Amino acid sequence: MVGMEAVSHNGNLFVNADCVEGARRFLADGSVDLVVTDPPYGIGGDRLDRHYNRDESHVVDGYVEIPRSEYAAFTRAWTAEAARVLRPGGALFAVSGYTHLYEVLGALRAAGLVEVNHIVWKYPFGVWTTRKFVSSHYHVLYWAKPGGRRTFHLEARYGADERGTGGGSLNYLDREDVWVLGREYKPGRAKNRNELPLALIEKIVQYASSEGDLVCDLFLGGGSTARAAIGLNRRFAGFEVSARIFAARVPELAALVPGERLATLRRPVPAHVPNRGRAWTGDEQAAVRDGYARYRGDGLTRGEAVARLCAEFGRGRFAIEKRLRKG
Ligand SMILES: C[S@@+](CC[C@H](N)C(=O)[O-])C[C@H]1O[C@@H](n2cnc3c(N)ncnc32)[C@H](O)[C@@H]1O
Repeated sequence: MVGMEAVSHNGNLFVNADCVEGARRFLADGSVDLVVTDPPYGIGGDRLDRHYNRDESHVVDGYVEIPRSEYAAFTRAWTAEAARVLRPGGALFAVSGYTHLYEVLGALRAAGLVEVNHIVWKYPFGVWTTRKFVSSHYHVLYWAKPGGRRTFHLEARYGADERGTGGGSLNYLDREDVWVLGREYKPGRAKNRNELPLALIEKIVQYASSEGDLVCDLFLGGGSTARAAIGLNRRFAGFEVSARIFAARVPELAALVPGERLATLRRPVPAHVPNRGRAWTGDEQAAVRDGYARYRGDGLTRGEAVARLCAEFGRGRFAIEKRLRKG
């Protein structure tokens, strides 16, 4: 397509085009590490306004919706393109409502991707109802391209041994597949219809990519993915079909300073697990069993015994617990 406007700055790319045409032109096969995207929901723009129940005066106009009748074909086209540009082992996170969820799931499968997690994002801004329950969640679909190693930083935000005030594992809580997150309030600032909270995208980017990786968003909108990716020092490529949204939002996105949000991140305290991922020898398996029996015989609680074994064997708590369960 001739005349596609593209802005490139600091190695990041923003293209004003349909995402399938734009990706075909600008992204090579297997070049992307992570796709994070939030396609139009196919439920009509007006309902989106109502759904978000807010002052619309700062919402940038020009949002392009997809008619229901075209939604399945549209979804098959962009998911196939996402699968093409992902490297083997690369991951895709797509936000979806429930109206077209079955079409998105079917298209991801047809594109040759495999499911990793089905995350529920629980938000506090559902529309008030009187004759039924209030809808208060979106789906975040985490899929991957087979054939390579998927990036997942286990301790991206919390060390495996970090505990909350009640003693529970912070790492476990952060990695549950229900995420409770509110929207961002941006009084007086330009926003896109349906703009995602930065905290949601940053969590995805932290766990599923590394600094320097290429992150792609096929449906740029207000650019929360760009903000998270560039802010956390990843490279970025994004596509937006609406000329009005592109003109209104891309100048500020292109000016983002790479890595500018890294200093705002919580610093996890990594657990000391030098043997994580190493296969157990038969002798070690027996020694863990014996050590556990001995410590319990000495009067230690289960937790204390496991903690000692973690230190002795250079393994995490989950690995020791799993080994003990196997007997
Ligand atoms: C749900 S919004 C994305 C919102 C974004 N995640 C944010 O936080 O601001 C979807 C965006 O995709 C754009 N869009 C619709 N069809 C498109 C297409 N074929 N290619 C690229 N962008 C498209 C819409 O104009 C809209 O801005």
